[in-house]
Amino acid sequence: MSSSRPAAFVSIFLTVTLPVSAQDSLPEFEAPFERNAIEPGSVTSGAPQVPAGYGFSWVVSLGHRGQSHALGGHFCGGSVIGSRWVLTAGHCVVREDGTVVEPSQIQIKTGYELQQGAFYEVEDVLLNPKYSSTAFNTLTNDIAIVKTKRSIDIPVIATMVRPRDLNNVSERVTVLGWGKPRSYLNYLSERLRYLNLKMIKNDDCNSRYYNGMIDEKMICALAEGTDACQGDSGGPLVASDGRLSLYLFGVVSWGDQCGETGKPGIYANVARHYDWIIDTIKDTGN
Ligand code: ARG
Repeated sequence: MSSSRPAAFVSIFLTVTLPVSAQDSLPEFEAPFERNAIEPGSVTSGAPQVPAGYGFSWVVSLGHRGQSHALGGHFCGGSVIGSRWVLTAGHCVVREDGTVVEPSQIQIKTGYELQQGAFYEVEDVLLNPKYSSTAFNTLTNDIAIVKTKRSIDIPVIATMVRPRDLNNVSERVTVLGWGKPRSYLNYLSERLRYLNLKMIKNDDCNSRYYNGMIDEKMICALAEGTDACQGDSGGPLVASDGRLSLYLFGVVSWGDQCGETGKPGIYANVARHYDWIIDTIKDTGN
C-alpha cells in the first residue's frame, strides 16, 4: 500500500475536496461458488464479504428515500467519485415509463452493512443523455450521476480509469455489491460482497456469448458459475493497473440471468464515459 498518489490523479476531480488514497486489492479466495450451490436462505457460501477496513467506503447503496435499505429500500449500488457525486447505472434511476426518478425519492447510504451507515439526501439525478435500452433489453450508455445535498463523509473516493489508461488494465477485475446471490433467489446480502472475474474482450464477448449485442461502451466479465445479479446494478467493477492500486473501471449494467455458464455480466465502460462524467461534475458545480 503506497501512501501517496501522483499529483495527476488529484487533478481529475476538479471539485473534489476529499483525498484520494491508495487501497489494497481484496484478498484472494478459494473457488467461487458453484452454480446452484447456494442454499435458499443462506448466502454464507456465496461471494466473500468485504473485510472491515479495506478502503471500499466509496461503494454505496442507493435506496428509496425514508426506507431501510435492509428492508426493501436498497435498489442499486453506486460509487462515490467526488465529495457530492455518485456514479451509478442509468437504469437504476429511470422509471418504467422512461422518466428519471425525482431526487426526493431516493437516498444514498454509506457503510458495508445494509442496515447501518449514514444517509445522504439527493439534490440532482443526471442521466447520460445517450442512455437507451434495446428491443432485446440490452442497455447502452447505462450510466448516471447522483448529486448529494451534502458532502459524503468517507475517507476514500474512487479513482476512475481514463481512456489512456485502458491498455494497462489487467484482465482480472472485481465486482462489488449487495445483490442477490442467484437470479431465482429474492434476497440481498446484508453486507457488501465481492467477486473476482476475468474480463472478456468485446470481440470475443460478441462472437462467443452475446451475438453482436455488445458495443464499445460496454465491458464483459466472466467467472465460472458466479456473477453480479439484481441489486448489484450501478455498483463498481474495479480493475488494477498493477501499480496504482484500484480503478473504477465499470458499472454493473445487465446480463442474461446471473452466473449462467458462458454468459458474462455486462458493465458500462467508465473510461468510455469519462468525458461525460467529468463534464457533468464540472458543469453543475459543487
Ligand atoms: N440489471 C441488474 C440490476 O438491476 C443487474 C445486472 C447484472 N447482471 C448480471 N448477470 N451480471 O441490478
